Amino acid sequence: MKAVVILPTYNEKENLAILIPKIFSEFKGIKHDMHLLVADDSSPDGTADLVLDFSKKNKKLHLLLGKKEGLGVAYLRAFDYAIDKLEADVMFMMDADMSHPPELIPEFMREMELGHDVVIGSRYIRGGGTPDWSSSRKLISKTGNLFARIIGGLKVNDCTSGFRAIRTSVYKKIEKSHLHTRGYAFLTTLLYELIAAGAKIREIPLVFYDRKFGETKLQRKDMVEFFLNTFRLRLKSSKRFIKFAITGATGTVVNLGILFMLVEKLSIERRLIAPSIALEVSIIWNFFLNNYWTFKDTGKKSSFPAKLAKFHITALAGFFLNLVIYNACLQITLLSSLLGRYDFLAAQFIAILIVMSWNYVVNVKWTWRE
Ligand code: GDD
Ligand code: MN
Repeated sequence: MKAVVILPTYNEKENLAILIPKIFSEFKGIKHDMHLLVADDSSPDGTADLVLDFSKKNKKLHLLLGKKEGLGVAYLRAFDYAIDKLEADVMFMMDADMSHPPELIPEFMREMELGHDVVIGSRYIRGGGTPDWSSSRKLISKTGNLFARIIGGLKVNDCTSGFRAIRTSVYKKIEKSHLHTRGYAFLTTLLYELIAAGAKIREIPLVFYDRKFGETKLQRKDMVEFFLNTFRLRLKSSKRFIKFAITGATGTVVNLGILFMLVEKLSIERRLIAPSIALEVSIIWNFFLNNYWTFKDTGKKSSFPAKLAKFHITALAGFFLNLVIYNACLQITLLSSLLGRYDFLAAQFIAILIVMSWNYVVNVKWTWRE
């Protein structure tokens, strides 16, 4: 087998000076044809010069230069190069900042020999971890993973790990146009497509250390892309979720319409009574649409009244969850500094997205369970 380890880099000169020799000393113990490809986005710190220096003495070290357009774009370019120019059978994805221990490379290769198509270094299985991270960084990463798992539907413990080995023959089955995420969201999109292509996945424990030099390249826009992208993955995999969302949208219109009629035309009390009636009507509306459209082929086991009751419980819990999340989001200073007095709209939008996803999961797993 020929394997190409790809290191995407942006200003990683100091890390590479240590990492490149380490990786090649790991290669020595592996019987396969091992190559290293550095995909540098013309880093201003001179990362490329360092790689060129090393490559003078080493035929198995390659350099690919590009302009900085995001981690995903850099990987796509590197995959093309590894396939077309280097004829790789296996391609590794690996961070260049010493977070990913090169000592694991032989184990990745052993798993490939055993016939797995994708091997993932996983921080979230027994034996893996992130010992250097602060609790807030852990929380962000875990939340991202939970999102990818629940919303994105990826049945992998560590969906965002950047340490992976991929069999080229499986990668080639992916339609190129499906891999359009530019930043870090590329990691989950690629995983989704590999699973859809039927890849046999294997996770091995990864202890992830903090980068040795420099700072993270993860930007806020990467996080936004990541979260929006998990919804996109879900929409792709599940028409049912689309129907659920459409139902929810019509329910919202019904709710607002009834509320308007009750308050404006019938002068019904507007703090408690009118919104309660509007809420109940919209819950029933949603229930019928969901029962006869969204979930029309599932949930045959429970009776109609049981489903109606369960849907009510879910909707009411969702209603309170909405209030809690809405108020919590109002505390986020970032929202108010970005949006000023319209922060409440963003807060409610976030709350709706989360509550709708939550409602969806509960209704799939409980109300209309198969
Ligand atoms: N060529 C190129 N272009 N490389 C990039 C770019 C880019 O636009 N952005 C980041 N990189 C490189 C970095 O130089 C580093 O080698 C690697 O990608 C990971 O970037 P970090 O900045 O170190 O990311 P992190 O430590 O915050 O980790 C996050 O991303 C990793 C991607 O592999 C986490 O989500 C990890 O779970 C994930 O493994
Ligand atoms: Mn890093």
